[in-house]
Amino acid sequence: MCGIVGYIGKQQAGPVLLDGLKKLEYRGYDSAGIAVYDEFAKKTEIVKAKGRLSALVEKTDGGKSLKGTCGIGHTRWATHGEPSELNAHPHFSDDGKVVAVHNGIIENYAELKQKLLNKGYEFYSQTDTEIATKLICYYYEKYGNDPVTAMERFILRTRGSYAIAVMFYDFPREIYVARKDSPMIIGVSDGEAFLASDVPAILKYTRNVYYIGDREIARLTDGGVTFYNVDREVIQKELVEIKWDAEAAEKGGYEHFMMKEICEQPKVVKDTINCAVKDGKVDFSEIGVTDEQLKAFKQVYIIGCGSAYHVGMVALYVMEKLARVPTRVELASEFRYRSPLIDENTLVVVISQSGETADSLAALREAKKLGATTLAIVNVVGSSIARDADFVFYTKAGPEISVATTKAYSTQLIACYLLAIKMARVNGSIDETRENELIAELTTIPDKISELLKDEREIQQFANVVAAKSNVFFVGRGEDYAVCMEGSLKLKEISYIHSEAYAAGELKHGTISLIEEGTLVIGVLTQDELYEKTISNMVETKSRGALIMGVTVKGRENVESTADITVYVPKTDPLFTASLAVVPLQLLAYYVSAYKGYDVDKPRNLAKSVTVE
Ligand code: F6R
Repeated sequence: MCGIVGYIGKQQAGPVLLDGLKKLEYRGYDSAGIAVYDEFAKKTEIVKAKGRLSALVEKTDGGKSLKGTCGIGHTRWATHGEPSELNAHPHFSDDGKVVAVHNGIIENYAELKQKLLNKGYEFYSQTDTEIATKLICYYYEKYGNDPVTAMERFILRTRGSYAIAVMFYDFPREIYVARKDSPMIIGVSDGEAFLASDVPAILKYTRNVYYIGDREIARLTDGGVTFYNVDREVIQKELVEIKWDAEAAEKGGYEHFMMKEICEQPKVVKDTINCAVKDGKVDFSEIGVTDEQLKAFKQVYIIGCGSAYHVGMVALYVMEKLARVPTRVELASEFRYRSPLIDENTLVVVISQSGETADSLAALREAKKLGATTLAIVNVVGSSIARDADFVFYTKAGPEISVATTKAYSTQLIACYLLAIKMARVNGSIDETRENELIAELTTIPDKISELLKDEREIQQFANVVAAKSNVFFVGRGEDYAVCMEGSLKLKEISYIHSEAYAAGELKHGTISLIEEGTLVIGVLTQDELYEKTISNMVETKSRGALIMGVTVKGRENVESTADITVYVPKTDPLFTASLAVVPLQLLAYYVSAYKGYDVDKPRNLAKSVTVE
């Protein structure tokens, strides 16, 4: 969701900025722009384009038409105002001396705009960013042309979320940055400084980054950064080395990131298991939460959005079955406004790949305010949710570029299983033998995913059939129902086919009236004790003309008397089948989208990281 880059150094800024923006394309955007200060002409040139980044690349000859070695760039995902060149960033003050790019939403923009209108400022776009830029300009001029004071006043005066990068004409080799609840990192290397809203944009140039905190200011110069708090006092920050492999953010021969990321699942699942299993036991010492703390919790809340919420749905079943602790799973956007009944005896687990999802971050803060202990299951190191949580379990998915999550989802499942095993063990609901058994089984999951990935031809062929459907129903019970929710989301978000996930027992309570000749029903049946029940529900839809696809475990070949096509997953402990059953559904969604010729990695209207409410 919107991308920011910035560069100051020895290289021509334009190509570096466009290169960074290219790496952020996956976040979703509908227009783009860059601003570069030309030291010789003594002017800042701004170029914007609506639509794909390639339009901006063309307009600027790959960035080379803009002379200068200091600049900022942006990909915009429209919030205030339609996608257009006028609304695209960078925005600038009336005299062109203050130029800015911004991610997030300024909530009190109307009040600030009125204030500036009263002062004689004019507005041309529909964006809150133009207001932010002119507000900074106003404070800059009011407080003695001091950029740090202008940024400080901006922070004090605005409500909402922002990551903002500003160039002041009078300070040609400097870029000023401020952030609140919107991601921004600053990278440095010899004589150069970079800024970006996400790691992949700068990974090619440097691995040494600073995380700028909420309501802090940074001043970037050639190779150096100075940080200030909101009282304009200089503060020290630790330089952190990014361990992600630069190649992990490249397609590496695959046609789409999504397929690459699906295929990376065996590795990242293994890495995630290995980071919290030592000598065959779940070991949370790196996370820091103690057995005594875990034992004391009387209830668990699991919170997330989209696929992260679906992980929570699987975790709900696993947690209650194994650890016997009352568990609830809730959408972050609902939890944050619901006055939930939680207290210091509650563990609130917030799941998020990006660690920046606005609703999940707000839910985490709400939980902390109510006295709960918070554990974040997060993929991006140093992200806002990771920083705010009491404890963090970092998944080892590496950079996930495709908007539709696959490998992060799979690593989040692992983190939840491990948490459930740990809690079960500390409160005595399982013994050591069962723990050993579960861990031994869990370590077989990566190979079982690899096995599934080898056998994808039938799914690929079936994708042609699915592509012609306009409605698909996913049905299952228990963990299978949770997997159906994820399978349905994957299909709808990248293939634009309407689909619904139903708890199979609910079909008769309404949905079955939608089943007609040729409607596709995908049944997931991996739970032994629920198998017969779900089969009966599938038979009911078949007798009304449905086309049936079954996803079940090897050995359940009798499903073929009901299903028209069946995908078998290897046998595992029923608690972990979600990790396997989801894979064919990911592949199906991928192949349907690719068959329809859609932009698999960047589905319409979607953003990778949803940093606004
Ligand atoms: C779907 C998808 C989204 C995210 C959701 C939460 O494929 O990726 O539903 O799961 O936006 O994002 P994070 O995990 O970054 O909080």
